[in-house]
Amino acid sequence: MTPVHGANPLRDAADRRLPRIAGPSGLVIFGVTGDLSRKKLMPAVYDLANRGLLPPGFALIGFARREWENEDFAQEVHDAVSEHARTPFREEVWQQLVQGMRFVQGNFDDDDAFERLKSTMQELDKAQGTGGNFAYYLSVPPKFFPEVVQQLKKHGLADAPEGSWRRAVIEKPFGHDLESARELNAIVHEVFAPDQVFRIDHYLGKETVQNILALRFANTMFEPIWNRSYVDHVQITMAEDIGIGGRAGYYDGIGAARDVIQNHLLQLMALTAMEEPASFDADALVAEKAKVLGAVRLPKDLGAHTVRGQYAAGWQGGEKAVGYLQEDGIDPKSNTDTYAAIKLGIDNRRWAGVPFYLRTGKRLGRRVTEIAVVFQRAPHSPFDHTATEELGQNAIVIRVQPDEGITVRFGSKVPGTSMEIRDVSMDFAYGESFTESSPEAYERLILDVLLGDSNLFPRTEEVELSWNILDPIENYWDKHGKPAQYPSGTWGPAEADEMLARDGRSWRRP
Ligand SMILES: NC(=O)c1ccc[n+]([C@@H]2O[C@H](COP(=O)([O-])OP(=O)(O)OC[C@H]3O[C@@H](n4cnc5c(N)ncnc54)[C@H](OP(=O)(O)O)[C@@H]3O)[C@@H](O)[C@H]2O)c1
Repeated sequence: MTPVHGANPLRDAADRRLPRIAGPSGLVIFGVTGDLSRKKLMPAVYDLANRGLLPPGFALIGFARREWENEDFAQEVHDAVSEHARTPFREEVWQQLVQGMRFVQGNFDDDDAFERLKSTMQELDKAQGTGGNFAYYLSVPPKFFPEVVQQLKKHGLADAPEGSWRRAVIEKPFGHDLESARELNAIVHEVFAPDQVFRIDHYLGKETVQNILALRFANTMFEPIWNRSYVDHVQITMAEDIGIGGRAGYYDGIGAARDVIQNHLLQLMALTAMEEPASFDADALVAEKAKVLGAVRLPKDLGAHTVRGQYAAGWQGGEKAVGYLQEDGIDPKSNTDTYAAIKLGIDNRRWAGVPFYLRTGKRLGRRVTEIAVVFQRAPHSPFDHTATEELGQNAIVIRVQPDEGITVRFGSKVPGTSMEIRDVSMDFAYGESFTESSPEAYERLILDVLLGDSNLFPRTEEVELSWNILDPIENYWDKHGKPAQYPSGTWGPAEADEMLARDGRSWRRP
């Protein structure tokens, strides 16, 4: 049969269990001295090399303002890898990787620096055999995304020589609202074609998130009940136990909803709620996710069905924690949300009437990300009501992190002479079922960029649809009141509990 839906017959014919190895290529990291690069990107590059997934002549170019020589850069990568890499340090892998490392010093507005970058790329092309293939990773403060992209164009670095490729990887947040996201999309697409742009939502690089697709579409037992006939509601939670740390400059004015709901949680919701794509090609996946995001309905009364909060002083992990407004670098009058909870509906036949509750927050009780699909109660109970007093609602919980796995919760008879039914759990844990450890999200995503595989990267329309959902909520919050305070180490403001209580439901305490 002839493949349709844009499928690539050559790739489809490949055995997907074989390792996917990047061809000749190089990676330029802008903002290489930053926090993300040190903790995630440089270790991920090393882990890929260590797993034999990078080409032998792989080139890594760092770009930042610091007055570093190549040797300082190599030492910095070495330290970052020693501290944060997932796989053990191997001298022979390191020696090979270091051959292709260069540092380019400069400011983003410095034309000479971009010319130096150009000649460094040409030099590495010859020395390492990168074939002119380069990905540019913009790990820089978001206000510099346009400038870096425009500099790449100005210096002819966005145009790939015949037979090679150039790609741009853009970190989050992609815009501050719908309008700014559209402006940024316009600037980026003036320079790079849509298939050259890879927007990072690192949640999509997580094994457990990709497993949502496996759970739903490789099995037969879940899909028949995955709809309004059986599902009572869905709760998607991303809770952090830490505060803003040293990232005041980034966080204040952005807040929890923009930082987490607009991207990670709406992507998790889309994967949980979407219809089965015709294939796992990027086009087919995006089409289904976009349909769900386009069908999202906001509650009419945003005051009753959304809550924003801000952490106050409290206790975290046995230690006293200061409130958000007392953190270094935060405006003591700031209205930035460190907690956000919203209720959404999806206007389609599968989900009509099923609420999706999304919440995220900092300084909550525990670090956990999960999707809980909570089922309706049995329509009729032949048991005495005292027998089911301890019985909750059935649930399938996808544990995204930590403790990755899936829990199925259902009622079971308590051993004894009387009929008493209580909730029990059946667990699948990655650590117990598989011997392989999961790659870090950034490993997977960087490899996908080098392979030109864009399945796990949100596209223009998804980003804009997501802002379209969040903008009215942010506008409402701007005009109404202040964030509710919650003590650090708790599960958020009382208003969030009241929001669910009004619907006759309660938040899970993971
Ligand atoms: N950190 C995280 O955990 C995290 C998580 C998710 C997403 N992100 C996103 O990742 C990106 C990077 O974040 P980050 O936390 O790593 O930022 P960061 O620590 O503030 O680092 C910023 C980097 O940009 C460079 N830089 C800043 N202004 C520059 C200029 N005018 N010219 C040249 N270089 C300049 C800095 O170089 P110098 O130090 O040499 O000045 C530094 O290397 C941001 O878009 C952020 O939103 C970060």
